[in-house]
Parts: sequence; structure tokens; C-alpha cells
Amino acid sequence: MTKILMVCLGNICRSPLAEGILRSKLSSNTYTIDSAGTAGYHIGNPPDKRSVAVANKYGLDISNLRGRQFTVSDFDIFDYIFVMDESNFDNVSSLARNEGDIEKVKLILNEVYPNQNYSVPDPYYGGKEGFENVFKMLDEACSLIADRLS
Ligand code: 4NP
Repeated sequence: MTKILMVCLGNICRSPLAEGILRSKLSSNTYTIDSAGTAGYHIGNPPDKRSVAVANKYGLDISNLRGRQFTVSDFDIFDYIFVMDESNFDNVSSLARNEGDIEKVKLILNEVYPNQNYSVPDPYYGGKEGFENVFKMLDEACSLIADRLS
């Protein structure tokens, strides 16, 4: 079983979308996919309605996902930890205990644009176009991740 974790700040907008999208591209028999937030603001909460809506528009149901906070034990569980932006990268890396932990942490858009360190913008304070934009970015990145893994 290969285990992949998607991480953003709140675990209600970007990372639940990334989780749902990657799940739709990989078999659950061989891949475990989860998501978490670096902050604890939304523990136990469902994804933002706008993320649920854009997922639905593209045929995915993420409404059953619930927010949780990233913890250091995630480094032991997951093989790959994809973060959405540099702030997530810094927050997750600051919990790393060794080089092996740090090596698991990747900016997800570096899968599409190697070494460019682009961010998936936080859509929380914007309109629904922001969620559409985030969906398209994550869909492209997750297609490449799925192709490379399988
Ligand atoms: P996310 O977006 O990190 O993509 O889930 C956010 C959701 C909530 C907050 C910030 C970002 N917040 O400050 O509550």
C-alpha cells in the first residue's frame, strides 16, 4: 500500500479537493489517500461548500471528508506528503525530525512545473472562480502524480 497525504492550511478548501481528485485516479486497493491541515481551525468540519460544489460539478463527492490537523506521526504513516504552498511547506517541515521526514514533503505544483515552487492559491476569501481554478490546477497535478505512481 502506498500512502499519500495532501496538506493545506485549513483542510477544508484545497487539500480535501486534492484528496478527492487523486482518489478518483488511483485504486483504493493499492493506494491510501488522506488530507490534513497545518492549523486546527476546522477539525471535524466538512469541506467548504464551494469545494464540495466544484467537486460535484466534475463528478466527485467529497462531502463525507472531515477536517483534521497534521501531526508528526503523519511522517511515519505516509510515503508522500504534498503541500499546497510554501507556508504549508514551512509548517510541515518545521515538525520534521530528520532528513527522511523532510524528503517526503513536496510542493504539489512542482509535479507540473518542476522546481518552480508555485503555490496553489488559497481560495477561502475569494469567489467561486477561485475554487474552479484550484480544481483545474489540482486535477492536472494529480493526473501526473497518478501516472508516475502507477
Ligand atoms: P484551505 O483554505 O487551507 O485551502 O483549507 C483555508 C480555509 C480556512 C482558513 C484558511 C484557509 N481559515 O483561516 O479559516
